[in-house]
Amino acid sequence: MKIAVLSEASADESRVAVSAAMIKRLVDRGASVAVQAGAGAGSRVPDNIFKDAGATIGKTAPATLKGSDVVLCVRRPNATQLKSIPKGALVLGMLEPYGDKSDLEAMANAGVSAFSMELMPRITRAQVMDVLSSQANLAGYQAVIDAAGEFDRAMPMMMTAAGTIPAARVFVMGAGVAGLQAIATARRLGAVVSATDVRPAAKEQVESLGGKFIAVENDEFKQAETAGGYAKEMSDDYKKQQAELVLAHMAKQDIVITTALIPGRPAPRLITKQMIAAMRPGSVLIDLAVERGGNVEGSKAGQTVEVDGKKIVGHKNVPGRIAATASELYAKNLASFLETMMDKESGELAVNWDDELVTATLLTRDGKVVHPNFTDKA
Ligand code: NAI
Repeated sequence: MKIAVLSEASADESRVAVSAAMIKRLVDRGASVAVQAGAGAGSRVPDNIFKDAGATIGKTAPATLKGSDVVLCVRRPNATQLKSIPKGALVLGMLEPYGDKSDLEAMANAGVSAFSMELMPRITRAQVMDVLSSQANLAGYQAVIDAAGEFDRAMPMMMTAAGTIPAARVFVMGAGVAGLQAIATARRLGAVVSATDVRPAAKEQVESLGGKFIAVENDEFKQAETAGGYAKEMSDDYKKQQAELVLAHMAKQDIVITTALIPGRPAPRLITKQMIAAMRPGSVLIDLAVERGGNVEGSKAGQTVEVDGKKIVGHKNVPGRIAATASELYAKNLASFLETMMDKESGELAVNWDDELVTATLLTRDGKVVHPNFTDKA
């Protein structure tokens, strides 16, 4: 079985879909791995590290993809790359299933079996394949590091001969995977941390990390978690009460990190201009939801906007800002999933098309969009 790893086409993408450790593991299981030259450059992994781990290096995308049975990538392959992928090959990546429909059809027309890692079910067996968690966890960490870099004061309390410096106050909105890591990281840096979420389960998790939980805890809040563990979109009345609470709290914060998302919907708008106006100059807001519409009014994807001395940071692809670590975890997520589709003895492909992990993630096969959420009937 030949596995090909693409060099990412997008200039915004610094991650790579394989690591030296995963090449060794897959080669040990009988596969051959070809990596496109320069694929690791954004994560500072030179070609010879992949070569030493047992891969061959392809000079170009067509040379790398020739004869491949499986293609590993970070983002959806573009039209040029798709042309070189053999028909019937499996493509594993973060394929943005909710993105442009015509791109989905392009993958179907290319005849590939495309697996979208974002759709991996959050069940125990698949935890090691959960790209949303592996990448959101690092985004939460990096958000605090970015905030500390923008903030022109110290994070921890310091008692010095020249005076006492107060600890920075950090408020995290959305306490899922990214938010919880942001809380833990800000605490490690010595900040005083508070957090909010609409899911009641988040309260205990925030408190166990040493954060103060702030939320409108009414009846709607008690039912805000779906069976799948995600947040529901809240009513206008809830949003109004939440906004009042947040406005009073924000005025006392130095750093705000927002991570709130609702699956398949635009990100909820949690911070208004009025709230930002209530903050002190020098405050920093990091909007991790900026690419999904943004939690913060006025945040712009790929930009840092300054409003009356307050910085609103909207980095794109935050896991890509910590690319070396993000690539390692992502590579393990992909390889672990691929291994479930390989024969244990021969190392050849042996896909069980009825496996729950396969049916949940498979977008296209045999020239068609096959995922029930994205077919025309959906
Ligand atoms: P997410 O990325 O979809 O959303 C981030 C956070 O924003 C969530 O905690 C959500 O409740 C919150 N949020 C949404 N609307 C909000 C609003 N209006 N105001 C404040 N907060 C709002 O969520 P993520 O990080 O993917 O986690 C979702 C759930 O899945 C969590 O319960 C998490 O513990 C669980 N999970 C389970 C896993 C497993 O069992 N394998 C793995 C990872 C997460």
